[in-house]
Amino acid sequence: MKPTTYAIPFNRPGLAGREFRYMAAALRRGHISGDGIFTARCQALLERKLGVSKALLTTSGTHALEMAALLLDLQPGDEVLLPSFTFVSTANAFVLRGARPVFVDIRPDTLNLDESLIEAQLTARTRAIVVVHYAGVGCEMEAILKLARRYRLPVIEDNAHGLFGKYRGQPLGSFGALAAQSFHETKNVTCGEGGALLLNDRRLIARAELLREKGTDRSRFFRGEVDKYTWRDLGSSYVPSDLLAAFLLAQLEAHRKIQRRRRHIWETYFGRLRGWAGDHGVGLPVVPAHCAIPWHLFHLVMPTPAARQALLAALRARGILGTFHYLPLHRSPMGRLHGRCGGRLPVTEQVSARLLRLPFFAGLTPRGQEQVIKTLLAFKGW
Ligand SMILES: Cc1ncc(COP(=O)(O)O)c(C=O)c1O
Repeated sequence: MKPTTYAIPFNRPGLAGREFRYMAAALRRGHISGDGIFTARCQALLERKLGVSKALLTTSGTHALEMAALLLDLQPGDEVLLPSFTFVSTANAFVLRGARPVFVDIRPDTLNLDESLIEAQLTARTRAIVVVHYAGVGCEMEAILKLARRYRLPVIEDNAHGLFGKYRGQPLGSFGALAAQSFHETKNVTCGEGGALLLNDRRLIARAELLREKGTDRSRFFRGEVDKYTWRDLGSSYVPSDLLAAFLLAQLEAHRKIQRRRRHIWETYFGRLRGWAGDHGVGLPVVPAHCAIPWHLFHLVMPTPAARQALLAALRARGILGTFHYLPLHRSPMGRLHGRCGGRLPVTEQVSARLLRLPFFAGLTPRGQEQVIKTLLAFKGW
């Protein structure tokens, strides 16, 4: 069955209200290529809300990561530490520059990079530490930044899940030298495909603008700072259309409403499933007290891979689409070819085989959620 044919899909993108009005306004202004007023407004909103020095909209979260890799000036053979339990792009962006991903295991509670395993994997070739705030739960940034400072390594945050999440009161995306956001259809705030590079190290801003505009200083030209623009650096076409930015602005402006709705759904799942999970050895999301989550996804860690498969089938039989998540990158063909394992990765392997994500989107109705919950409570396939 196609994902869209389920009575209760895993995700369904929703409208926040002003999307079409803003898109029509972009058209009326006669500016639908990149870096129009809607891009500027999205970037200003992100800078203000997240307290970052600069936000640059990109065509995807993947492209924001690729820009981060370009900014690091990586050389073939350089190493970048990252979790194996993540999306392909977290690693691929660096492999594209000839670097070697070094896969480190995750913590069994938050499913984030295990900070206690990082130091043992640092070598003379290590150039960066990449963290992924899984489900928008902050990684242990205090320990990670301390280590990074000691070894003079930049930290890159893959914050694809974590927009508006906080760690010790500080917004995720504002810790690393660079951070990547995603506005893919599955994210809380979306324009279908899109992303942003967040820059906290001001020294990288000017070059980031070049890379994003095909290696040219066209951004400075548009601001009237130079009278012509030319090819100055490596680069690609990372600037999204202002039509997409218009759509995105409507969503960003409505983020409180979207987050309130998602919070309610998350808390309903958590409250209703707590007893059931305890009785059957099912892991629910773990959110440390010093982390504020953005209610991005709701996952279960089932006691066995067989129970995970049986539950996915039970949901499917009732027209409900649950899904698994990342397959370990260190076991993938490309991970084996280009990466190296920083030790054994038992938590990654176990979690990947047992994790299941429940339908979770702002438009999930109380009735729909109740059907999901009832299916879980009635599940017998342990
Ligand atoms: C952790 C993580 N990083 C990066 C990405 C890539 O984002 P995009 O789909 O916008 O390219 C994703 C995508 O979902 C992701 O989950």
